[in-house]
Amino acid sequence: MNKIGVGYASIKQLEKTYVMDALENERLSPGKYVFKFEKEFAEMHGQKYGIMCSSGTCALHISLEVLKETENWNENSEILVPAITFIATANSCLHAGLKPVFVDVDKLTYNINPSEIEKHISGNTKAIIPVHVFGQPCEMDAIIEIASKYNLKIIEDCAESHFAKYKGKTVGSFGDMACFSTYVAHTITTGVGGIIITGNKEYMEIARSLIAHGRACTCETCIASSQDSVCPKRMGTEIDRRFMFVRIGYSCRVGEMEGALGLAQIQRAGEIMRIRNANAHKLTEALSEFEDIIQLPKYPDYIEHTYMMYPIVIKETASFTRDEFVRYLESNNIETRPMLPLLNQPIYRKLFGNIEDNYPAAKWINNHGFYVGIHHGLSEEELEYLIKTMREFLLKRYLR
Ligand SMILES: Cc1ncc(COP(=O)(O)O)c(C=O)c1O
Repeated sequence: MNKIGVGYASIKQLEKTYVMDALENERLSPGKYVFKFEKEFAEMHGQKYGIMCSSGTCALHISLEVLKETENWNENSEILVPAITFIATANSCLHAGLKPVFVDVDKLTYNINPSEIEKHISGNTKAIIPVHVFGQPCEMDAIIEIASKYNLKIIEDCAESHFAKYKGKTVGSFGDMACFSTYVAHTITTGVGGIIITGNKEYMEIARSLIAHGRACTCETCIASSQDSVCPKRMGTEIDRRFMFVRIGYSCRVGEMEGALGLAQIQRAGEIMRIRNANAHKLTEALSEFEDIIQLPKYPDYIEHTYMMYPIVIKETASFTRDEFVRYLESNNIETRPMLPLLNQPIYRKLFGNIEDNYPAAKWINNHGFYVGIHHGLSEEELEYLIKTMREFLLKRYLR
């Protein structure tokens, strides 16, 4: 049997058809597939505008740069970031010349703990980045209440939670801006890639400009350098507006092949979510008799989890360590990964010092947690094997 990996790019005929069409059109730079993917992905997440870019990290960095420009933030501006997230969330603040300030997470949901936020707010705090980790939405009502009380912007990091819902609303529809990664193994994948969504036209226009070197005109005709139509604003200025630059931008566009993959993947989103959910529920059911020694995903019924991965934390009551469990799974060909350790990363220790003890929930999760894949690429046989292997270990090591 193949290794049971944490993620999988499940490419079907639709993806191949769209990518072949893009190639046959001999068009690799952004065009109809990118525009369609951006529009449909944004709409599926309750927003008006989508801006596809080269990674989730880029999406976060660009969103912060947009707000830095429009809100006049400076190098002292602080951004609240959870103490458990992939390092890219906090790195993007540093890329934008802003200061990440860490907030402890909730021991049950692994998401930013709203009751820990206010103690980190200072006169320089400008925004919160709630990260919906592992496919589970954050407690958005409480976060929005704090953000409005202190006049903070919200940038949702939805890299791990495409299509997840909180109280009937999709993630990405709560913040001023929201960012997704479509890197391989994310729920919807384009190989590499990311997308920003927003309901604010000005933010959309600046983001489009920033991903394309700081271009003055960001209309579809100029972006797509269409042979068939010419932007009416293009001529009549000192510099052709398509090649006029009004800010120091970046080069983080993607092309038609990524757009084609993305469009096919979102058209299969219903099927992808259904399989992930069914797999996760099957695993939870099989492990539920061990809940006094392992913590399984738990959430209220107003949450729709999309299980980008399946996190497990070993409780103090267990007679084995996380590492013993992980070694057993790995030696049986099941891939495991740590639960997004951040504050103990060598580079963060160097930058911020040994601050991990100030974040007891994050520290507990880092020391006792891991995740496995539960993705839509698993065959029935592979899922059964995953369940059987986990139960085997737990039954052997379970002390009642
Ligand atoms: C929570 C989170 N934010 C941001 C990113 C960065 O995305 P990318 O790898 O596309 O840059 C990831 C990537 O896995 C992530 O998990």
